[in-house]
Amino acid sequence: IYHTPELTPKDTKPDCAIAVDVLRATTTMATVLNAGAEAVQVFSDINQLMEVSENWPIEKRLRAGERGGSMVQGFDLGNSPLDCTPERVQGCRLFLTTTNGTRALKCVENAPTVLAAAFVNRAAVVKYLVEKQPETLWLVGSGWEGSFSLEDTACAGAIAHSLLTHLNCSEAELAGNDEVIGAIALYSQWQDRLLDMFHHASHGQRLLRLNCHEDLKYCAEIDILDVLPIQKEAGVLVKN
Ligand code: MLT
Repeated sequence: IYHTPELTPKDTKPDCAIAVDVLRATTTMATVLNAGAEAVQVFSDINQLMEVSENWPIEKRLRAGERGGSMVQGFDLGNSPLDCTPERVQGCRLFLTTTNGTRALKCVENAPTVLAAAFVNRAAVVKYLVEKQPETLWLVGSGWEGSFSLEDTACAGAIAHSLLTHLNCSEAELAGNDEVIGAIALYSQWQDRLLDMFHHASHGQRLLRLNCHEDLKYCAEIDILDVLPIQKEAGVLVKN
């Protein structure tokens, strides 16, 4: 588990990397693909997004994203998963840039398998991992501008906890992996109160100041979407 994109090693790559940005980028990605979008293409930079999306048919393109939690001016959508209704997104490509989540995906885009995970699609992610059993697996929390985030670490813990249960791993087998032990402990502490955890988290508080109460409630739902966003080419995720 790496707590921010900044902490991922630059000189090595895992068999499988999973980006986690519960509030809200990876929740939005799972939701938009579940609602019938053709793909999500992620960008760290607004200008690059504008340039690439310019070449896409206008009726099949949605420019989406936020800076500081608020919608980028002139875009079609912000980063609220609740805006991703089938009526709005069916058959479209979402061109998405966010403060941290899309950066986490860009930093692992060279791994052979790249997935996006949140609480809403935790079970779908774990099912894939149980089937494929990648030898090396990174869970990359998006954090906030380089710092630790409570909700991303707890979600990484939720994935690790469920995966280890499916694989019948004992606690002893985790010895030495402090980050996984810590993330599982965090998840165990909050698992029945995920929304409360968001209210304590710094980015949760930022979103509450922006009146995103309903987004927080939705992002706290667990295992509700049977959808696995998987990278098919660098920076482009589709439904598996
Ligand atoms: C991010 O990428 O930092 C987040 O998804 C921000 C947000 O809540 O929109």
